[in-house]
Amino acid sequence: MQADELSPPIDLSLYPDGTSISAEGALVIGGIPVSELAASFGTPAYLIDEGALRARARDYLTAFRSRHADCEVLFASKSFPAASIVRVLAEEGCGVDVAAWQELAIAELAGADPRRMVLHGNAKSDADITAGIASGVGHIVVDNLDDVERIARLANTPVPVLLRVSPQIDAATHETMMTGHDASKFGIPSGQIADVIARIRREPMLNLRGLHAHIGSGIADLAQFQAAVDSLAKLERFPVYDFGGGLGERYVSTDQVPSVDEYADHVVTAVHRHLGTDVRIMVEPGRSMIARAGVTVYRVVTVKRGMRTHVAVDGGMGDNLEVSLYGAAFAPSIIDRTASSEICDVVGRHCESGDTLVKGIELASPQVGDLITVPVTGAYCYTMANNYNGALRPPVVLVTDGIAREVIRRESLADLVQRDVLAQ
Ligand SMILES: Cc1ncc(COP(=O)(O)O)c(C=O)c1O
Repeated sequence: MQADELSPPIDLSLYPDGTSISAEGALVIGGIPVSELAASFGTPAYLIDEGALRARARDYLTAFRSRHADCEVLFASKSFPAASIVRVLAEEGCGVDVAAWQELAIAELAGADPRRMVLHGNAKSDADITAGIASGVGHIVVDNLDDVERIARLANTPVPVLLRVSPQIDAATHETMMTGHDASKFGIPSGQIADVIARIRREPMLNLRGLHAHIGSGIADLAQFQAAVDSLAKLERFPVYDFGGGLGERYVSTDQVPSVDEYADHVVTAVHRHLGTDVRIMVEPGRSMIARAGVTVYRVVTVKRGMRTHVAVDGGMGDNLEVSLYGAAFAPSIIDRTASSEICDVVGRHCESGDTLVKGIELASPQVGDLITVPVTGAYCYTMANNYNGALRPPVVLVTDGIAREVIRRESLADLVQRDVLAQ
């Protein structure tokens, strides 16, 4: 059966490349029917197509390196802070952006080279700075004057740093994902940059190598990335420029986002025009690196037909906070079964009315026990998984070429209560 014979059809362009519908009508990811993965690993489960992830990393690296030899693509590990994922991307040649000593420890566990990491954070503790210095991270990104004081106090040899500045851009994205404007909690507001640069230069333990700007997440307008380059070029020249992450991803069929190639072209062209060709370019993609490699599979627990049809699954905001936090849109499908379609709200099992995965979507008339897949859940869903209502966080399963590997096991009740002192 072809995808377009399903009712309603599954948009395979939202799934990892290579996802298919078998002759029997089964959804197949990484060469394995999703129903088999659900039977083996339970639901909900995060499925990551390793082949698709590797291909995306190669796309990123080729897009930038072919245009500018001196560049670094760093995976923003906050988007999927698991050692097995970081390892895959490091193997492909990516560096790593870490934003806390814990993310640094995960990246080291993955075997990533600290010299190819940047350490971020708008509230770095002594522990964060100490870990960054001890591991020898490539750069620590100074976000505030307290970072300057801490590095000066904790370092014994000069530490290469970048300065995160506000490029004064109100990125066209959800308010919670805007980070590049002067009122942002991230970086140095434009009016203070010169003073902070002077302050850093008075500290012998800080070696200021360049500037950093991250304008936000989920951005589809390439002109905004160019504006960020333009904005940094108004400041004095440095050898290193890190433009953060932020490229958007398609979550639903109607979304349009630029390709990685177009993104690289715009950034590199703007750098060459405004900053010249002899600088190092760094970018830190998270969402656009991993989102589409990931699919969450759920099982339908309840179908309630009333004023609306509520299809409740065995997960929700415990494993996907993107909807309640950012209002993200997703495109779930009932898989492996055709039926006349019905308009439904797919809701989670948590005690919040806001615990909705999507409202008003056409599904093949749902039944208890059906499997539902939600594509494009590779970024920030695992990151923000939580234990609301005692939810046990889902496993992460890497699939590729017909082989499935559970790289994060499902949380157990023992995990859930192990920090509860009464229970010990
Ligand atoms: C400093 C920095 N770099 C990179 C990223 C990754 O952004 P995205 O996942 O949108 O690519 C973020 C996300 O918040 C960030 O704060």
